[in-house]
Amino acid sequence: MARKFVIAGNWKMYKTVGESREFVEQLSGQFSAAEGLIVVVFPPFTSLAALHGLDPKVRIGAQNMYYEEKGAFTGEISPPMLQSLVEYVLVGHSERREIFHESDVEVNKKLLAALKFGLKPVLCVGETLPEREAGQTVEKVKNQLHKGLEGVPAADWERITVAYEPIWAIGTGRNATPGQAQEVHRHIAGRLREKAPGSPIPVLYGGSVKPENSLELLSQADISGVLVGGASLKVESFSAIIHSGLKLLSA
Ligand code: PGA
Repeated sequence: MARKFVIAGNWKMYKTVGESREFVEQLSGQFSAAEGLIVVVFPPFTSLAALHGLDPKVRIGAQNMYYEEKGAFTGEISPPMLQSLVEYVLVGHSERREIFHESDVEVNKKLLAALKFGLKPVLCVGETLPEREAGQTVEKVKNQLHKGLEGVPAADWERITVAYEPIWAIGTGRNATPGQAQEVHRHIAGRLREKAPGSPIPVLYGGSVKPENSLELLSQADISGVLVGGASLKVESFSAIIHSGLKLLSA
């Protein structure tokens, strides 16, 4: 099967509406659409409407969402509110899990709600440094996959993406080596094949991805894209990472 790469940028709590629009306008001029290339940015909620439809090459996702459809949930955003604005939504990013104490149960509810409303959830999983040092990486990730993906309707697997983001590599400048990442991706890919035979689920690597390491990470057999934080905030570095994907697609 032809390879596909998802190059995704998680902007976290950065960029005003004006800065977001300017970024996408500049990014647009930096690459051409190509078969197999999927570029997504995850701006803050406040920028979603401004970016919607700006450039069909740059797909839009939300960084989070609540699982209820509506109600008295001050400060939350529901799946139907996102439905007309975004294609993707991150669920269970480690910052949501660690800082905002989101549990696997809530992450699962969000994932199922995203599917119900036609969105494409990106389920984020990953281990802490103590877990890695204790040799618990694969067990932790498999457990998060098991709980996060519980109850997915058979017809919806094709809309799921997984992101493996070792917590010790996020925002630290210390990426997993391509070999370390591939090793975990191989386990994830195996587990996903058991769960959803026939629906190849993209598994993105995240954690200090930058232009200097993106080509080698994307070259690994079971890495189907990258979820980029810090290096997605500058057009120059994010477009260089997109070009790593393009290079491999044309090789
Ligand atoms: P980073 O963030 O690239 O800045 O490490 C990745 C992420 O949190 O998705």
